[in-house]
Amino acid sequence: MSLVCLTDYGFKSVETERRIIEAAGAELRTGQCKTPGDVLELARDADVILAQWAPLNAEVIAGLTRCRGIVRYGIGVDNIDLAAAKSRGIAVANIPDYCIDEVADHSVALALALVRQLVATDRRLRMGEWKITPPLPVPALRHMTFATAGFGRIARAVLQRAAVFGCRLAAYDPFVSKDAFVAAGVARLDPDALFAEADILSLHLPLTAETSHFVDYRRLAQMKSHAVLVNTARGGLVDTTALAQALAQGRPALAGLDVFEKEPLEMDHPLRGQPNALLTSHTAWFSNESVLELQRLAAEEVARCVRGEPFKNRVGL
Ligand SMILES: NC(=O)c1ccc[n+]([C@@H]2O[C@H](COP(=O)([O-])OP(=O)(O)OC[C@H]3O[C@@H](n4cnc5c(N)ncnc54)[C@H](O)[C@@H]3O)[C@@H](O)[C@H]2O)c1
Repeated sequence: MSLVCLTDYGFKSVETERRIIEAAGAELRTGQCKTPGDVLELARDADVILAQWAPLNAEVIAGLTRCRGIVRYGIGVDNIDLAAAKSRGIAVANIPDYCIDEVADHSVALALALVRQLVATDRRLRMGEWKITPPLPVPALRHMTFATAGFGRIARAVLQRAAVFGCRLAAYDPFVSKDAFVAAGVARLDPDALFAEADILSLHLPLTAETSHFVDYRRLAQMKSHAVLVNTARGGLVDTTALAQALAQGRPALAGLDVFEKEPLEMDHPLRGQPNALLTSHTAWFSNESVLELQRLAAEEVARCVRGEPFKNRVGL
């Protein structure tokens, strides 16, 4: 009988996974691994691994004795060393399409709340201040350039929403054809233009060696002083120490962040004390429906591997 190891999860129950995986003829062993050592202790002899956040780095992958497949609960696969998996002939799969609307909704919600200064105005009102004008200048949305870094699934869903508000649409993604930009009515920018022209810049890149600290001191200094930065992709895309300093200096003016370089965000991180930042705790993907969808789709992907079938959504070929 095959062994499937579920390294970690934040769900209330994994009974859906158990039902689907056992129906495919495998045993399911579950854990709550935090470190590479935890993963090896639980899953050294796994045939298939299902993981949420646990580190599946080169050390773990080298220690696996018979693993043939790894499934990541989610879209990002930055907790898995894809090159190490490839070198051991281990296929990796993600769940690319379960929460596109949720993340797009959350990204636009952060941007709108910041542009309309909802949180600052609410705080002020509760303190007894009743004023007609919000604390910062309020440019009209219909005159703004809403830009995305990346022009993949989530970025496109974000820009479709931004179009409804009359924004000019723009994106940077060198891996997407010019024709796709033209068809979507989205201006194709290089990185310098992206940072200089965006009134709202929303990040939708995978975290890789190349995109790590995509937003750093230099790029922040290129942004407009009233600009809004939104990150619902991965914390490592932004140098958050640089961002906290830039916000304090007012360039960009505002930031909406769902993801952080280290999660949970450290209690003493300067962003916590920054009133111009709106922070959420990696919840962009979540809805009552998306969580059930994620669990079912991930278990079905595992079941395919148990039965010796190819993954539906293989990554890092
Ligand atoms: N906060 C959350 O809850 C949450 C949920 C889901 C996904 N995410 C994150 O969102 C990210 C984007 O998801 P998606 O579904 O849009 O992915 P996607 O694969 O559809 O799109 C990513 C785009 O980035 C582009 N890209 C890759 N490397 C690049 C580079 N170096 N420079 C410029 N562009 C580059 C690709 O060409 C692609 O078009 C995921 O990688 C994941 O990390 C976060």
